Amino acid sequence: MVTSSAPGKVYLFGEHAVVYGEPAVPCAIERRARVTVTERADDRIRVHAEDLSLDGFTVEYGSDAGGTPDVNVSESVVEAGVRYVDAAVEQARDAADAPSAGFDVDVESEIPLGAGLGSSAAVVSAAIDAATRELGVELDEAELADRAYRAEFDAQDGEASRADTYCVTVGGAVRVEGDDCRSIEAPDLPLVVGFDGGSGDTGELVAGVRRLREEYDFAADTVETVGDLVRSGEDALAAGDLEELGRLMNFNHGLLAALGVSSRSLDSMVWAARDADALGAKLTGAGGGGCIVALDPTDETETALAFTPGCEDAFRAELDREGVRVEAA
Ligand code: MEV
Repeated sequence: MVTSSAPGKVYLFGEHAVVYGEPAVPCAIERRARVTVTERADDRIRVHAEDLSLDGFTVEYGSDAGGTPDVNVSESVVEAGVRYVDAAVEQARDAADAPSAGFDVDVESEIPLGAGLGSSAAVVSAAIDAATRELGVELDEAELADRAYRAEFDAQDGEASRADTYCVTVGGAVRVEGDDCRSIEAPDLPLVVGFDGGSGDTGELVAGVRRLREEYDFAADTVETVGDLVRSGEDALAAGDLEELGRLMNFNHGLLAALGVSSRSLDSMVWAARDADALGAKLTGAGGGGCIVALDPTDETETALAFTPGCEDAFRAELDREGVRVEAA
């Protein structure tokens, strides 16, 4: 039995545009998904998921029969969970040259699902790490990040960049542009997260931006503008200029809203943060619902979000400089 964990993440800048080759800067936060993998004697997979914001589910499946879910959450959550674990198991089997290895997989997550905090990337990366170790193989960080990307790519029908999976695998702040992924220096950031209790469908949201970009030149220009903004954001990050970072986050939220991926609750939380004098605020991740991230060294934003209709949870999120790690073996 091996347990590995990986952190969630927020995007300081660049989600969606990163899918079209623009740079993005996500950073890992101190909220983790823990995945425990135990090899089975047969080739079946049993997934049990326990999420702090959900009731959880158990499903078992394999070569000889369909799944038999013991379900108390929505079918789409089970389907999504199983799709990601399945893709991770395939990567682990391939890496360890064990095509018919079976596993019990237990997922415990402090990261709300599909809410822009990298839950699927964290589960996939931790699952591949734990499953390969359980089969006696230890992957280096680069291969783990690559395999996690390929698993997410498969599970999301090709609509994925390397940003989420690279960030949660290596931890800290990272810069991703196409296949070029690297860690970057970042000061401690006073991040506050607001969560509306909902989630967006990443595949659908990415496809929506793709359609807009194909239809309107100015949508394609907006995506490129996000890229320019990210480059300015990198300079502000390197200089530790939090005020400039905040201004650029506000700008980035406006561009994401123009691309149609914000929502009423995300906009309300962003405005509540701004009214509370946050240095900046934006949605994080695919959008459509889920989380915003604000920059505020004071308690004002957290307090304001707690009283904002449509905000279910607000919390401070420290930058996590550690990526995937083994919790128990
Ligand atoms: C989702 O967390 C971030 C997107 O940019 C998609 C991706 O990069 O894979 C919307």
